[in-house]
Amino acid sequence: MDIGGTGIKGAPVDLEHGILAEERHKVLTPHPATPAAVADGVREVVDHFGWTGPIGITFPGVITAGTARTAANVDKDWIGLDAAALLADRLGEAAAGHPVALLNDADAAGLAEMRYGAGAGRTGTVILLTFGTGIGSAVFTDGRLLPNTELGHLELHGHDAEKRASGKAKENEELSWQRWARRVQKYLAHVEMLFSPSLFVIGGGVSRKAEKFLPLIEGIRAEIVPARLQNDAGIVGAAMAAHAARAAAPPAADGSPAATGPEPGPPARPPAGPPPADRAPRSAADSAVGWPDAGR
Ligand code: BGC
Repeated sequence: MDIGGTGIKGAPVDLEHGILAEERHKVLTPHPATPAAVADGVREVVDHFGWTGPIGITFPGVITAGTARTAANVDKDWIGLDAAALLADRLGEAAAGHPVALLNDADAAGLAEMRYGAGAGRTGTVILLTFGTGIGSAVFTDGRLLPNTELGHLELHGHDAEKRASGKAKENEELSWQRWARRVQKYLAHVEMLFSPSLFVIGGGVSRKAEKFLPLIEGIRAEIVPARLQNDAGIVGAAMAAHAARAAAPPAADGSPAATGPEPGPPARPPAGPPPADRAPRSAADSAVGWPDAGR
């Protein structure tokens, strides 16, 4: 599942090939995008597929241990909320006995690109940036993610960078490709000065039109390539996170696969049962085993 500013999208994922196993289903993001209203949308998409099993969900803000810490482009009620628990509750039977993994949207897209897309096999520092409603970032070193980097909020000429250089800024200010590319170039130069990546992967809606602006960007040492999974990267990365959370769950005493979410039947909220440290992480970013080694 991918919670975005305009749509809540999802699909079952084929993790062997990093592709959607069925055509994705989308509902419009409610406005205001309150936790309850968004959770209803997530439920609707999951129900569309009649899915029961592990569920990975991306969120457009910082997520630590399942809790949302920022909400730049969604309702502020998310901040401080145990969003993973809320979503698991709302998903009820669909997630019963399975992990619900919640992670930042750009981190999810980055994971997918590093394993199946433009970053596959790349070592050193790789940074994925998504240019959409905001600017999202995912930073990797030798295939491992440093989660929640929030580079879209770097200050650029006294402004929050995403206010100047996101896809939405281009749209709102009706910027030509040339003018917008100049802003993106300044932004990339700033990020490069701080992190010296060998590769930038450019994602988000604009990655579909990469040929219109990437050739206009000059003076950046790092290689710059468009994301390959484009719109599907978030959903695929979310599925990877759900899979990692399941793999990290300790086996049940009877040897059956671990159930880390709610038990079948109501109540859907994860039971008080085992102490948190013994549960699969609700945010795969906090997994003791770390991320699946992307790019390998
Ligand atoms: C948020 C990030 C998110 C990005 C893209 C930013 O405003 O702070 O967490 O990844 O938008 O949705």
